[in-house]
Amino acid sequence: QLAAAVVPAAGRGERLGPGAPKALRELGGVPLLVHAVRALARSRAVGLVVVCAPPDGVAEVVSLLDSHGLDGKDVRVVPGGASRQESVRLGLAAVPEGTRVVLVHDAARPLVPVEVVDAVAAAVRAGAGAVVPAVPLADTVKRVEPQPSGPEPVLDTPDRAALRAVQTPQGFDLPGLVEAHGRALAEGVEVTDDAGLIERFGGRVVVVPGHEEAFKVTRPLDLVLAEAVLARRRA
Ligand code: C5P
Repeated sequence: QLAAAVVPAAGRGERLGPGAPKALRELGGVPLLVHAVRALARSRAVGLVVVCAPPDGVAEVVSLLDSHGLDGKDVRVVPGGASRQESVRLGLAAVPEGTRVVLVHDAARPLVPVEVVDAVAAAVRAGAGAVVPAVPLADTVKRVEPQPSGPEPVLDTPDRAALRAVQTPQGFDLPGLVEAHGRALAEGVEVTDDAGLIERFGGRVVVVPGHEEAFKVTRPLDLVLAEAVLARRRA
């Protein structure tokens, strides 16, 4: 049975600077969202892609996706929410019941290689309830006591060898993820990634190798890097 993919794409992308919602900014002349949906549609494991659009931009996203061929995959667009977590919850509601594997992939990660998508879907199919692609950290990380301004006192330095930077698509057993999102809504729990909800409620999450090209486009420099990666692929 094929997996469904949910793509939260409703963020403003303020850290990228002024302009259109982040998912609609262009990379190589094509919106980030279209790159991300194509990256998922390219996987033979994926049968349906649900896009969570900015609530006031549903029609625009529908026509955008229509104008770019998407390998004949089933693509649906739903309005997203005020937070990434809410967008994902709304997207999950549009996934047909009976689907077993669901992938959640940020529109802001346009260049994820298909091998990562396949590996995450395969790990869920093989029985893992929650799977996260991740890479080791290049930088040493310090935990600080955040200050509004001025120097921040360091609390400690976690062992870098045991840290991973997590990416998407994250893969889940659908009923487990739907239940976690429902419980988070009821209990007012907010986290920054979907696997974080599974962890919070005592579930087991495993990490598989991610890829350096699955980085998230957040700041202007990330777009410069993404353009360079795309140019190298096209060369
Ligand atoms: O802001 P950040 O880069 O963490 O966003 C990650 C992903 O979540 C992006 O693809 C963004 O469009 C999406 N998002 C969303 N709804 C929101 C906020 C973010 O779908 N309200």
